[in-house]
Amino acid sequence: MNVKDELIKKLAESDGGVVSGAALAEKLGVSRNAVWKAVNAAKEDGYDILSSSKGYKLSENNNRLSAEIIHSKLVCKGLGHKITILDEADSTNIAAKELAALGVAHGTTVVADRQTAGRGRLGRSFVSPPGKGLYMSVVIRPKLAMSAVPMITSAVAVAAALAVEKLCGSEVQIKWVNDLYMNGKKICGILTEASLDLEMKSLEYAVVGIGINVRSMKDEFGEELSLRATSVEDETGAALDRNALCAEVLNNLEIWLDRIEDRSYIIEYRRREYLTGKRITAEFGGKIVTGTAVGIDRSANLMVELPDGEIISLNAGEANLVRR
Ligand code: BTN
Repeated sequence: MNVKDELIKKLAESDGGVVSGAALAEKLGVSRNAVWKAVNAAKEDGYDILSSSKGYKLSENNNRLSAEIIHSKLVCKGLGHKITILDEADSTNIAAKELAALGVAHGTTVVADRQTAGRGRLGRSFVSPPGKGLYMSVVIRPKLAMSAVPMITSAVAVAAALAVEKLCGSEVQIKWVNDLYMNGKKICGILTEASLDLEMKSLEYAVVGIGINVRSMKDEFGEELSLRATSVEDETGAALDRNALCAEVLNNLEIWLDRIEDRSYIIEYRRREYLTGKRITAEFGGKIVTGTAVGIDRSANLMVELPDGEIISLNAGEANLVRR
């Protein structure tokens, strides 16, 4: 690690506290002049560092992504220990899939400040402007029965919802399958891509891609998208720290991925599910059906009651509210 990265690590470890130039020089084993140069280099890189007569601290407003800062907030054991931060990626899922194919370890994470070709479900794109969102992809290699593999994505939704809730203090809903909502609009999308070993009938790896609209998106979304999508800041006024949010997502991901096999994550999923009790429309068996969403079954399928009383289970695709 170079002096600048070491400096960020020490400032992050002080958790918002001021660290004197002398203490930093001693910890890093360099001169005070070298500390001063590293501070300036970090500021040029975009880190928000406050300097005073007492020393240096990372500003609460720092919006520069950093593996060192994320590491300082991780409590999970197996995720995020290798983090690659990119200023720009076409898609962090593509970058993570390339790494996964090379055999990187469970938990390897790619985070980008912006994506030029952010990918959504069903062939859609995901708007990913610089400095605004958390765009992260995690390579996971969980030991799961094949029947449980489709549930990864809904467990990730629970993990991401709890992370956002913890940092902003407001409730998040999950719209089946895996969109996160606040006040009826989308704040986060999840794209899970899996590589299966068909001979062994097992999961080789999955790349879990999470895109959270963190800072205000008012100037980023066009008129049409603004009707359906929003950001955590636009809904709550809280301008969350993307590094802290990334760490919280990883901490939660570890907990909730472990609760797929016994299905216990479903309780948290059901508690937040947005469509339940509402009139919805979806594609089923090649036809468009309309009915009432009546709940989530133990495999995270959406149960829908049709007008004739029949209850069907949706296990793929998407469902949308019928707006009157
Ligand atoms: C959706 O809303 O349909 C899913 C959106 C998923 C977006 C995330 S951002 C990080 C990762 N990289 C991508 O290209 N997509 C996912």
